Amino acid sequence: MKRIVCLGGGPAGLYSAILFKKALPNAKVEVYERNRPGDTFGWGVVFSDKTMAGFRDADSESHDAIVGSFYHWDDIDVHFRGQSIRSGGHGFCGISRKRLLNIFQERAAALGVEQFFQREIDSRAEFADADLIVAADGINSAQRGRYADVFEPHIDVRKCRFIWLGTEQKFPAFTFAFENTEHGWFQIHAYQFSPDLSTVIVETREETWKAHGLDRFNVQQSIEFCQQLFGKYLGGHPLMSNARHLRGSAWLNFSRVLCERWHHRNLVLIGDAAHTAHFSIGSGTKLAMEDAMSLVAQVATAADVGAGLERYRAERNLEALKLQSAARNRMEWFENVARYTHLEPQQFAYSLLTASQRIGHANLQLRDPRYVDSVERELARRNGLAEPRPPMFLPLRLGSMELVNRVVVSPMAQYSAADGLPDDWHLMHYGARATGGAGLVVTEMTCVAADARITPGCTGLWNEAQRDGWKRIVDFVHRHSPAKFALQLGHAGRKGSTQLGWQEMDRPLPADNWPLMSASAVPYLADLSQTPRAMTEEDFARISAQFVRAAQFGAEAGFDMLELHMAHGYLLASFLSPLTNQRRDDYGGPVANRLRYPLEVLLAVRAAWPAGKPLSVRLSATDWAPGGLEETDLIAIAKAFKEAGVTVLSVSTGQTVADQRPVYGRMWQTPYADMIRNVVGIPTIAVGNIFEPDHVNTIVGAGRADLCAIARPHLADPAWTLHAAASQRYASQWWPLPYLAGKSQLEHNLERAALALGAI
Ligand SMILES: Cc1cc2nc3c(=O)[nH]c(=O)nc-3n(C[C@H](O)[C@H](O)[C@H](O)COP(=O)(O)OP(=O)(O)OC[C@H]3O[C@@H](n4cnc5c(N)ncnc54)[C@H](O)[C@@H]3O)c2cc1C
Ligand SMILES: Cc1cc2nc3c(=O)[nH]c(=O)nc-3n(C[C@H](O)[C@H](O)[C@H](O)COP(=O)(O)O)c2cc1C
Repeated sequence: MKRIVCLGGGPAGLYSAILFKKALPNAKVEVYERNRPGDTFGWGVVFSDKTMAGFRDADSESHDAIVGSFYHWDDIDVHFRGQSIRSGGHGFCGISRKRLLNIFQERAAALGVEQFFQREIDSRAEFADADLIVAADGINSAQRGRYADVFEPHIDVRKCRFIWLGTEQKFPAFTFAFENTEHGWFQIHAYQFSPDLSTVIVETREETWKAHGLDRFNVQQSIEFCQQLFGKYLGGHPLMSNARHLRGSAWLNFSRVLCERWHHRNLVLIGDAAHTAHFSIGSGTKLAMEDAMSLVAQVATAADVGAGLERYRAERNLEALKLQSAARNRMEWFENVARYTHLEPQQFAYSLLTASQRIGHANLQLRDPRYVDSVERELARRNGLAEPRPPMFLPLRLGSMELVNRVVVSPMAQYSAADGLPDDWHLMHYGARATGGAGLVVTEMTCVAADARITPGCTGLWNEAQRDGWKRIVDFVHRHSPAKFALQLGHAGRKGSTQLGWQEMDRPLPADNWPLMSASAVPYLADLSQTPRAMTEEDFARISAQFVRAAQFGAEAGFDMLELHMAHGYLLASFLSPLTNQRRDDYGGPVANRLRYPLEVLLAVRAAWPAGKPLSVRLSATDWAPGGLEETDLIAIAKAFKEAGVTVLSVSTGQTVADQRPVYGRMWQTPYADMIRNVVGIPTIAVGNIFEPDHVNTIVGAGRADLCAIARPHLADPAWTLHAAASQRYASQWWPLPYLAGKSQLEHNLERAALALGAI
């Protein structure tokens, strides 16, 4: 390559120019920047210690210069409702953005990179002979806009306003502080980045910002407002802006940028131009610089530019998405801070620290064992326990039901029954999981009638023989374990009469299909599934009576809790989602109508189910498809169910329509359980890719959900909870007496393995 042009002299443009010049010393490398060398918006940026190690390997000269200008700290302070909570071991460095850019400018100059300042670039025409054009022109990238049809950017303007200020106050730790006003909450993210300067970002919801008239304030007036609100943290130092030249208020909205494609011919997007990460995770500059490292490594060694750009995208895509997902979780926490302000300060701070879902209980314990000990002590105290323990082992009371811990065996169809009758397989399956230590075991979806089944292998509860079959299992669970046993009742609706889970799932049976019904006459798989009939008033009464009969059988069998399955597109769920409910009567249209029939069933079942025993409903919180359930619908449904006597909501998502586009990841559905719990004020069960004890500890510790349902890991390991207890040295865990010798050996072996690794 002979000529490489970097458009934009921010961290992405300058760092890629430096690395390209090092990798290809004979190439002409140029940077074009619209501002002067010393101009910059903002104040400081932060990097974690871990991030710095990568920069050292890429370019030790700039790394060393950055380290020489660093302000380093370890602690995070959270100030909330008059309390200050400190946690340590976070290992961050702050540097002035201006200094960082100056270091890069000097390093680039020393290497022979040509830098052109005060050059606004609005076309690529003047670079027609360039081999590669690196569009590092930031969040409002003109290059991205020019080829928007190729890059397909998704730009999501978020719900908060923020202003980036400076101060001479020296914060002893990375500081988050929260202040309430008559119109809502404000927060600051503040940290020191040089011996005498700190940065303070003030953030609030758009509606709060407007209600205070801040949209009409100039910079100076905004500064005075912030000084007054956060004065007690500023030690008498004023706040300062370096955006005084800006017209308007200087308050910005963060835009979340994602692009379908990152390159077009020889033009490539990097840094904020390609994707942004909210500042609360402090990773925008890291993302930009790591993009540069990958771009140079891939392009400089590729046979041609196109191949190199493909490799760059392949290498960075997943990493960038992971970072953006963590940043989104944390950003949403700050956007919805009012949701968490009912928490005690200790739990509020823990919830903030773990909000990205990247840092959990175990990681915090490594960083600062004393802090985690104080969290566990506080949780124990609130649960009436004398001694602390990992949050997953805290007891929980739901109605009259006492659970010994927070682990739930999630409902999982076994497709192994004949005529709906649970048999030895089910005894073995549920018995093993109950003796495996989970606090609560939930049955698979057990169907209220033969034609309510998903498959011919589903269990049912429409006759005495089935009731007695279940009673045998319930008795076993109660006799041989402290676990509680919940019955999940459902009706398959339009997803019924299909093949077993391990055959062609969701496809109709090859023969002997039974007729289906649903909220509306819309098949699940167009051209493949049977078309259901839309339910009539007569169907309403009959199906409701079937649910009531099954609930009565369930009570007779001795189940401790009842769960109504209103998720995953089955019959009752089909009423809730606008995608499957297209009715024009009183049971379709607005959410108040759509929830009418599920609520009727719920009330009838509640009346038939013993008063003290808890009742759960499983919901799909989103359909992952356009036109599906909205957040406001979900909240309305959760509130109505709470008022109708539901004790706990089990929060799953999707499976409503076949063309859903879910976004998977660790604990991916937990944000919905969190939202319902903390907005509606009802206990929730989180589920979905919760597969490590650490996930459970963190979710429960943060008050994101009250229980964690774990499905597939329990297929691989019925004794998941016993193993989790041993791995955390929680010695008080109950084990079946005949297995006690296994407990001590397991604990001993884990102890030895940890010693060998030097972990203890
Ligand atoms: C309030 C706030 C706080 C932040 N805090 C942190 C933090 O603590 N840690 C962190 O890592 N990140 C932080 N960031 C994010 C960080 O600033 C960005 O992610 C990072 O600067 C991205 O680098 P970049 O080079 O892609 O874009 P930028 O830094 O925006 O650089 C783009 C450059 O291109 C120039 N340019 C644009 N258009 C043209 C044009 N047409 N012609 C010529 N030049 C042009 C611009 O002048 C600019 O210099 C924060 C961001 C904000 C808004
Ligand atoms: C084999 C299998 C069968 C399932 N059957 C049911 C069911 O009967 N009822 C239900 O509500 N969810 C059912 N699910 C969904 C799980 O309860 C759970 O929500 C999902 O698997 C995500 O949790 P996981 O990531 O821990 O597996 C089933 C999941 C699996 C893997």
